[in-house]
Amino acid sequence: MSLPMPATQTELRLAKRMSRLGTETAFEVLVRARALEAQGKNIIHLEIGEPDFDTPANVVNAGIEALQQGYTHYGPAAGLPELRQAIADEVAKTRGIQVTPDEVVVVPGGKPIMFFAMLALIDEGDEVIYPNPGFPIYESMINFLGGKAVPIPIREERDFSLDVNELKSLITDRTRLIIINSPHNPTGGVVPPGDIKDLAAAIGDRDIMVLSDEIYGRLLFEGEQYSIASVPGMKERTIILDGFSKTYAMTGWRMGYGVMRPDLAAQMSRLMSNSNSCTATFTQRAGLEAIKGDQSEPERFNEEFKKRRDVFVKGLNQIKGFSCRMPHGAFYTFPNIKQTGWASKKLADALLEQAGVAALSGTAFGAYGEGYLRFSIANSMENLNKALDRVDQWTKKNL
Ligand SMILES: Cc1ncc(COP(=O)(O)O)c(C=O)c1O
Repeated sequence: MSLPMPATQTELRLAKRMSRLGTETAFEVLVRARALEAQGKNIIHLEIGEPDFDTPANVVNAGIEALQQGYTHYGPAAGLPELRQAIADEVAKTRGIQVTPDEVVVVPGGKPIMFFAMLALIDEGDEVIYPNPGFPIYESMINFLGGKAVPIPIREERDFSLDVNELKSLITDRTRLIIINSPHNPTGGVVPPGDIKDLAAAIGDRDIMVLSDEIYGRLLFEGEQYSIASVPGMKERTIILDGFSKTYAMTGWRMGYGVMRPDLAAQMSRLMSNSNSCTATFTQRAGLEAIKGDQSEPERFNEEFKKRRDVFVKGLNQIKGFSCRMPHGAFYTFPNIKQTGWASKKLADALLEQAGVAALSGTAFGAYGEGYLRFSIANSMENLNKALDRVDQWTKKNL
């Protein structure tokens, strides 16, 4: 005999920390855009940060072969040895440092490195300096873990780079972690090597770790990609976050990695055992091909993004009330819309609903994003031109 169902459902009692968890607005806007499409509206999607290209065929084939070869079981928590070795070699080559496989942890995407780094390092009340505007998950995770989120504003006047002097003024005895992201989401700003070196000097021998989010490191149009881990003495204090999602158009494969001192890597491996067990093994075999195989596809992606950037930024600058700096990396544009007189969120909503262009409000990336919108350029040139036209028409009518 089955037990009678309770007449009223009890209220869900969540842990307090859940109220501090943030979100990534891009996914919410995508849902709203899809709902409008279901009503028959035509929407151009410039909200989501993922390459519109297919994963390169050699990588897909490596994944298929891996499935056929039986890479369908658990693997080591920190990643397959051959992939950890390949990542160590790649990071050593690109950052000019020595890296051993025991300093590499492979995880399902770049995001878990953020989460695990903070889980492993942040106690309640510890201060974390993070870019604002910036990838929204940084602030979300800091708050979730009871840390104190200390924003470092990323300013247009500084070409969306870091103001190292301002950052220095935010360091206190409670600072435990500094997050930097270059090339930067959402602005495309790149921190020049000189500023990275200044920041390293400011940290000096304080007991502070740096989470260096380099996921857009290969998506660089001008300037130099310089990792803080390359500054002598900084490797031991740096966690490099990188991955496959953006460079190789592999967002759905879920694979990223962190490079860090071996004792911290061992702790991240414990966090992996406690959460995911391991990253999907056939995915990792595809990752091995991505790193070691032919690089012409990622190079083609970059060239295409650069062409689109040039066209889209030029177009944005012709729209009433918009002004846009040239992003130096990643695949986003971050126009200033202050002259429109509209608040960012309201303008993004209107463009979605009335112009059929899905963009994100700058405030989706933190309070310092007010006055800006983010348009991803991960869409075809044809759609980008159409989007420019729609926004232009809309502003002519409404401003
Ligand atoms: C700055 C930044 N870091 C990390 C990630 C996470 O990437 P993944 O999809 O590999 O988890 C993203 C994704 O948008 C990002 O923009």
